[in-house]
Amino acid sequence: MSSASFELHGQTAVITMNNPPVNGLGFDLRREIVEGLARAEADADVKALVLIGSPRAFSGGADIREFGSPKSTAEPSLNTVIRALEGAEKPVVAAIGGACMGGGLELAMACHYRVAVRGAQIALPEVKLGLMPGAGGTQRLPRLIGAEAALNMIVSGETVPSEKLAGTALFDAMIEGDLLEGALAFAGKVADARPLKRVRDIKLALPNAEGFFQFARNTVGAAAKNFPAPLKCVDAVAAAVALPFEEGMRLERELFLQLMQSSESRALRHAFFAERAAAKIPDVPEDTPLRKIGRIAVIGAGTMGSGITANFLSAGIPVTLLEAKKEALDRGQAVIRGIYEASAKKGRLTAQQVGERMAFLKPTQSYNDLKDADMVIEAVFEDMAVKEAVFRKLDETMKPGAILASNTSTLDLNKIAAFTKRPGDVIGTHFFSPANVMKLLEVVRGEKTANDVLATVMAMAKKIKKTAVVSGVCDGFIGNRMVEQYLRQALFLLEEGATPRQVDRAVEKWGMAMGPFRMSDLAGNDIGWAIRKRRYREQPDMKYSRIADRLCEQGRFGQKTGLGWYRYEAGRRDAIPDLAVEKMVVDYSKEVGVQRRGIDDEEIVQRLIFALVNEGAAILKEGIASRASDIDMVYLTGYGFPVYRGGPMFYADEFGLYNVVASMQRFAANPHGDPAFWRPAPLLAGLASEGRRFN
Ligand SMILES: NC(=O)c1ccc[n+]([C@@H]2O[C@H](COP(=O)([O-])OP(=O)(O)OC[C@H]3O[C@@H](n4cnc5c(N)ncnc54)[C@H](O)[C@@H]3O)[C@@H](O)[C@H]2O)c1
Repeated sequence: MSSASFELHGQTAVITMNNPPVNGLGFDLRREIVEGLARAEADADVKALVLIGSPRAFSGGADIREFGSPKSTAEPSLNTVIRALEGAEKPVVAAIGGACMGGGLELAMACHYRVAVRGAQIALPEVKLGLMPGAGGTQRLPRLIGAEAALNMIVSGETVPSEKLAGTALFDAMIEGDLLEGALAFAGKVADARPLKRVRDIKLALPNAEGFFQFARNTVGAAAKNFPAPLKCVDAVAAAVALPFEEGMRLERELFLQLMQSSESRALRHAFFAERAAAKIPDVPEDTPLRKIGRIAVIGAGTMGSGITANFLSAGIPVTLLEAKKEALDRGQAVIRGIYEASAKKGRLTAQQVGERMAFLKPTQSYNDLKDADMVIEAVFEDMAVKEAVFRKLDETMKPGAILASNTSTLDLNKIAAFTKRPGDVIGTHFFSPANVMKLLEVVRGEKTANDVLATVMAMAKKIKKTAVVSGVCDGFIGNRMVEQYLRQALFLLEEGATPRQVDRAVEKWGMAMGPFRMSDLAGNDIGWAIRKRRYREQPDMKYSRIADRLCEQGRFGQKTGLGWYRYEAGRRDAIPDLAVEKMVVDYSKEVGVQRRGIDDEEIVQRLIFALVNEGAAILKEGIASRASDIDMVYLTGYGFPVYRGGPMFYADEFGLYNVVASMQRFAANPHGDPAFWRPAPLLAGLASEGRRFN
């Protein structure tokens, strides 16, 4: 199918871009625009040209399906198309409706005129991928809407509705009614106007430019400290003011290429594609028919059940919430209302919207009320006997075809499925706490989970705005299984010479939202304690520092008890270092005969992150995760991993797997290193020796 069509309307030629869904500027479309333009130029009867897209999009920019392929840079490149349009000898009118973003907006700005309907979405979003516009956007947009407004759009990447830009030189006319008709009428009016208007010829003036850009650099630099792109955007816009057009274009190109190579942009682009990839399940066809999900039921109105319920109410999906105890049911409802009232206080919801959301909630204590639910999510105590009773009851109660999901974090989903006569309908939906806030949803695929159940839950996740990642069944699934090794390593660091504060600071400086000790204090140290007690029984050979048990024996469970690895004062959430803990750590080293040594931040970070990577490699090899990028998505959306480092597996790739293994060998040889811990997983060892990557 052709990516663009060419038609004559009287004396105006119309090129209609037709590359769904958003007219991405792929190779075929670029070529056909240039060909259409040449045809119009060669036809003496043609006086003007209109370039138009679909109602959904003029053009959303580069075609991401071609990213990284030779087609993405093949000639005619976007810059070639832009030069051809701008240099045309007949007026070219861009007719803009829908998305007009990135390369699409750059294309439009190369036309002699632009007309738009209201509601078109205008943006230069490249900064969100750690890049900047690379086809004249930083030089032309300031000439059309002014340096300050252009800088705001380019540095933020945010979308601005076309009507807000009406009155600037970006649009020569706003069209009411049919866009093509309006554009043709406009083209008729300007067909003979000469000289042709070119954006590059506009003189851009900005009084006190130096002061303005200095101020912009200070603010942008402070806000984007780990991201180089926003400051380079400022430099490029400053060049639009200070330099002749061609020199500005050269600088834009140079900065763009620098950013393309930057590790931050590579990581952001990886995350962008990883999110899309995670939605695809290799052995589940994309056209798998979905089950209908109209009403949800949630069992258990505790911490997780309340947060889970709120997700659905917010998406306008009715929920029946079942509890064993009346007080717990009332408390759960109050928590949900509290979530909405807090949003209302911040001005994000109106009182009426709070009421509407609460009206979708049907609290109950009777299983009879679950009969009309299409899917049930169990969030009762983490105890197999309790889960068994609940799933047996659900099997009796729920209508045929209903999806039965468990929010378990540590129990075997296959066993839970076996409590029912319909294990194909059983699936895990592992939400993260607070469930109404955290983006991540691990979707746990049991041995018998049916494909359409999996596909339906993945689609449902999108509706409630979660990033869903499929995990196979194993202890801890993807995220918590890896984090256990990270926390184990954090304890060894204490034993060998670090303090909780030093460990947390080192990884937080590196970019983690929260170090392992602050994280444990937040989650509750008793949770890890319970897991360790199980490990001591089940895997007695696994070396574990017992230092965290000492802490728990003192009842220091973290924020909820006011004391943990840190101290917490009433009404404040900040972690206050506690000398008593530091003394306990030092005493413990002495007790186990370890000569404490100074450990630098680099070693701390590498030991923690490579602990994740090694377990990630095992998870990948076992098929618990389908792809390395899925593991990265879990960490980016559920564990506060810095997005500019792309996730643990991507970070290891960029660090070089050979270098990762070399570091692990060094750690194994430390005075108190644990060679078993640092034995590279076979997949990691294999890829490292072949010079390959996970991603
Ligand atoms: N808290 C977390 O951070 C977290 C994160 C992910 C997953 N999970 C998992 O979510 C589940 C719930 O955890 P939580 O933290 O919300 O626990 P919670 O103790 O806060 O809530 C459990 C609720 O279930 C109710 N309940 C118990 N038995 C019931 C029954 N037979 N029928 C109906 N209601 C019953 C209890 O009254 C209680 O209100 C567990 O499987 C847990 O492992 C918890």
